[in-house]
Amino acid sequence: MAKMYKWGIIGLGKIAHKFASDLLDVEGAELYAVASRTQTKADDFASKFKAEKSYGTYEDLAKDPNVDVVYIATPHVFHAENTLMCLQHKKAVLCEKPIAMNATQFQPIMEAAKTHSQFLMEGLWTNFMPHLKKVQELNLHKTYGNCVSIEADFSFKAEFDTEKRLFNKDLGGGALLDIGIYPVYLALKLLGLPQHVDATCEFSSTGVDVSNEIHFDYASGATAKLSSSFARTSPSKAKVYFENATVEFGSRFHDTDQLDIKTDSGVDHIDFNYPSHGYQFEIEHVQDCLAKGLTQSTEMPLQASLELILTLDKIRKKLGLIYKEDDQ
Ligand SMILES: NC(=O)c1ccc[n+]([C@@H]2O[C@H](COP(=O)([O-])OP(=O)(O)OC[C@H]3O[C@@H](n4cnc5c(N)ncnc54)[C@H](OP(=O)(O)O)[C@@H]3O)[C@@H](O)[C@H]2O)c1
Repeated sequence: MAKMYKWGIIGLGKIAHKFASDLLDVEGAELYAVASRTQTKADDFASKFKAEKSYGTYEDLAKDPNVDVVYIATPHVFHAENTLMCLQHKKAVLCEKPIAMNATQFQPIMEAAKTHSQFLMEGLWTNFMPHLKKVQELNLHKTYGNCVSIEADFSFKAEFDTEKRLFNKDLGGGALLDIGIYPVYLALKLLGLPQHVDATCEFSSTGVDVSNEIHFDYASGATAKLSSSFARTSPSKAKVYFENATVEFGSRFHDTDQLDIKTDSGVDHIDFNYPSHGYQFEIEHVQDCLAKGLTQSTEMPLQASLELILTLDKIRKKLGLIYKEDDQ
């Protein structure tokens, strides 16, 4: 019989709920333990999702010898310390994006994964979605020629609430690290590291970027025009221009299940049509990697996370967007 992987979740906020609900439908996955800073919150979450254990500290979950893999769903600023703590307790880790606040914070985590021989992957879930895999396949096989340009935007009007993490600088708030990471990742995935980066932003009164616009130039002549915002709601679409076709992603391009491939001979509409949030694809991938005894993902290796965080660092430098973690 195939192994059942006992998952633990740390940080029981919005995304942890969605992840847990998808996890329950994944074959070979069991939501075994959950941890919150508040015991009663952990108890409620455990009872809702039928987890066997509920802990009132994150470390108690990391110490549980029965946990195989931990999903970290805390605000960005805690990802590095939570990941490090789990790796030190010899746990495999799937950590939400961005995996750290900057490349300096990411280096010791990479090293810890190696030292403790543990699996570590950034939870860039969109990477495992069928639509992005399809576009990447078209790109790698040059089905419609080379990718020459990308346009991608992710924007929604967010409530201005400094208590919550989106506008709270101490919690790593701001559009770039929260949602701008998806357009940036799309460009890196399809075109690689840019030769030149330009970026501008508007700041909120709390000192985080409320809207940003980013431009990448490539040695090949390819370009990427990327944006994200908490100030307006947009269809959040992406277009990828190949030499002989344009691929249009459905609304909320990062997690859409709709693609239109437009060529001179017409439009090919693809509907991937799956019934959940879409976290099952990354969960299945993590379990496949663990079953093979891997310490890194084959599809989202640590090098990809390093390139992503280095690019975000570069964009932030252009924006003048500095967090307290940049001084440490
Ligand atoms: N993959 C995706 O689609 C997706 C979507 C949204 C967010 N995310 C990522 O997931 C992470 C969490 O986002 P979220 O929207 O779920 O955030 P959230 O609703 O604010 O939840 C974050 C949780 O982190 C814990 N936490 C620990 N220290 C905290 C502190 N000082 N202040 C506030 N919370 C603290 C809390 O859990 P306890 O009280 O239980 O300890 C809180 O419920 C972020 O890094 C974000 O980038 C990913």
